This record gives sequence, C-alpha cells and structure tokens, in this order.
Amino acid sequence: MAGRILIIGACGQIGTELTLKLREIHGDQNVVASDIREGAKELMQSGPFEILNATDESHLKEIIERYEVKEVYLMAAMLSATAEKAPMKAWELNMDSLFHVLNLAKDGKIDKVFWPSSIAVFGPTTPKDKTPQTTIMEPTTVYGISKQTGERWCEYFYNKFGVDVRSIRYPGIISYKTLPGGGTTDYAIEIFHEALKNSEYTSFLDHDAALPMMYMDDAIKATVDIMEAPAEKVKIRSSYNLAAISFTPEILAEEIKKHIDNFKINYEPDFRQQIAESWPSSIDDSSAREDWGWDPEFDLEKMVETMLEGVGNTLKENA
Ligand SMILES: NC(=O)c1ccc[n+]([C@@H]2O[C@H](COP(=O)([O-])OP(=O)(O)OC[C@H]3O[C@@H](n4cnc5c(N)ncnc54)[C@H](O)[C@@H]3O)[C@@H](O)[C@H]2O)c1
Repeated sequence: MAGRILIIGACGQIGTELTLKLREIHGDQNVVASDIREGAKELMQSGPFEILNATDESHLKEIIERYEVKEVYLMAAMLSATAEKAPMKAWELNMDSLFHVLNLAKDGKIDKVFWPSSIAVFGPTTPKDKTPQTTIMEPTTVYGISKQTGERWCEYFYNKFGVDVRSIRYPGIISYKTLPGGGTTDYAIEIFHEALKNSEYTSFLDHDAALPMMYMDDAIKATVDIMEAPAEKVKIRSSYNLAAISFTPEILAEEIKKHIDNFKINYEPDFRQQIAESWPSSIDDSSAREDWGWDPEFDLEKMVETMLEGVGNTLKENA
C-alpha cells in the first residue's frame, strides 16, 4: 500500500478491534498500533506497536515519518464518565491530540484522518427522539464539549486547508473482546458479565434510560466504510450521526431473560444517570445512509445472542 496506517489509542475498546480489522484488510505490517500502555496479546503480537502519548507532538511526528504513515485514526480520548472526574485533563488530552493530528495533515505529513465524535455532542435542549443531523447542540459534559469543539475544528481544517478528515458520532459501543473505557453506556456491557456470573446486575442507569447503542462489528464497519468512501461522498466534515439500536436497561434485561430466565436486574442510578438524561434516546442517521451507504447489521436480538456467547466463552477461558 502507498503509506502505512497509524492508530493512536489502539489498546482501547474500539482501537483494539479496529486495529485487528485494518491489519486484516491492509496487511499486518502496514498498520502501526500505538497507545500510552500495552494492550491485548493479539494486538501486540500481530504487527508493529509503539508506546506513544497522543499529546506528545514531536514523538507523534517522528513515528509518522519513521513508518511513512499516510492515514491516522485518533482513538485516544478521555471518555464521558472519567472526564467528569478530571475535566481539565480530559480537555487537554481530547483537544491537544486532535490539533496535533490536524496540523500534521495540514502540513502534508498525512493524507487522511479519522477522528471519532460521540452522541455526547448533544445536550438537554436537543430533540431527544430521532435526533437530527443538524440540531441544537448544547452539551453539558466536558466530554461532550470537547467532542463538539473537535467537530467544529475538523470542519474548519477541511474548509480552510483541505484536510481530508472524516468522523462519526458513535453511540454507546457494545463489545466483549476489550473492557469499556469509562463511558455512560458501559452498563450495557457489564450487564452481560454479571448475568452470566451471578444472574443478577445492578444498573447505574435507571430502568427507562433509553440510549442509542451499537454492536462493535457495526461500529468497525462504519469506520472502515467512511474511510474507504470516495472523498466526494463524505459531504459532512464535522461528524455524521450514526444509529443502530436504541434500548433502556429494562428492555435489555428482558432480552437477556429470554436466555437466562432467573436473571434479575436492580436499579441504583448514580451520577451517570444525569449524563444519560442529557443525551438523545434515538438518532436519525439518514445522512450517513444516503451519503456513503451506512447500513447496520446487528439488531437487539442478534447483539444479545452474540454478547452472551462471546462473554460466556471469555469467562470459560479465564476460569
Ligand atoms: N466506546 C464507546 O462507547 C464510544 C462512544 C462514543 C465515542 N467513542 C470515542 O471513540 C474513541 C475510542 O473510544 P474507546 O471506547 O476505545 O476508548 P477507551 O478508553 O477504551 O480507549 C482509549 C485508549 O486511549 C488510550 N490513551 C489514553 N490517554 C492516552 C494518551 N495520552 N496517549 C495515547 N493513548 C492514550 C488508553 O490507554 C486507551 O487504550 C474515543 O475518542 C471515544 O471518545 C467511544
């Protein structure tokens, strides 16, 4: 291939599976993983890995030059729940890392950038159901503020400097290969582990907290699809709404009960309930569908079946 790919924050929940998928598509040696810490064995052993702090601009530049990187996926960030505990640190990481990557693209060091946004860009004044692509955005979390600001800067770098940056507003991502990184939707992963271990789970969100969610394979597919789409098809250069499934803890528990009939759910909402209440319940993703052909594969039933099997196998392997 013409140039290599660099993933920053490759050891996280999404980065791990994204790196493995990109290695499958482009060849192991063409996809360089990086993070401030080491990650899963499969990731570390399947191709090049570098320890990199995303806020260290000169080290980032050195790695890009050394590996002749042409495409960067910036997955490092402090997520919603964790960011509320360290707002200034979250702002610094989420913004500085983005500026470094956008500036390297502006200077012609890299050709293409993927940067994920989130449903956290929306806030309590946003229409909650079928939230449109373009709407009121007044986020109330530091994470949401950083993502909304990031979107504005991505669009600015595209308009002013022609930087080919592409972005998706991920909903809550559900997966079992890597543990989640401190988000408000993490309950929808923990519930499977507890259901299989103890047949009981205490949710930190209330029974009726409806949030947009997506199974990991769909999130990876969307990421690969938007990056492979011809540039002219990517018409929105801030970030695309993306949707798959929307459910509440109660609905998810009912679906799990179809497989584990003695499963019991309790509700003890904490500070994350307030964050959830400020986010949409469902998302209108028609722009992504029309512009670059987005079409999710996992519905609630298929996601629950896949998670129970995947988490079940992981628990057996670790027993
Ligand atoms: N997981 C979700 O549900 C979700 C939803 C919406 C948006 N997103 C976005 O997708 C991206 C990836 O999310 P994730 O769930 O994989 O997060 P994660 O927390 O699981 O992973 C982030 C990774 O970044 C690394 N990291 C932290 N600080 C770093 C630094 N200074 N330098 C380099 N690496 C650093 C961490 O070690 C971790 O491996 C983030 O931008 C996140 O905001 C995720």
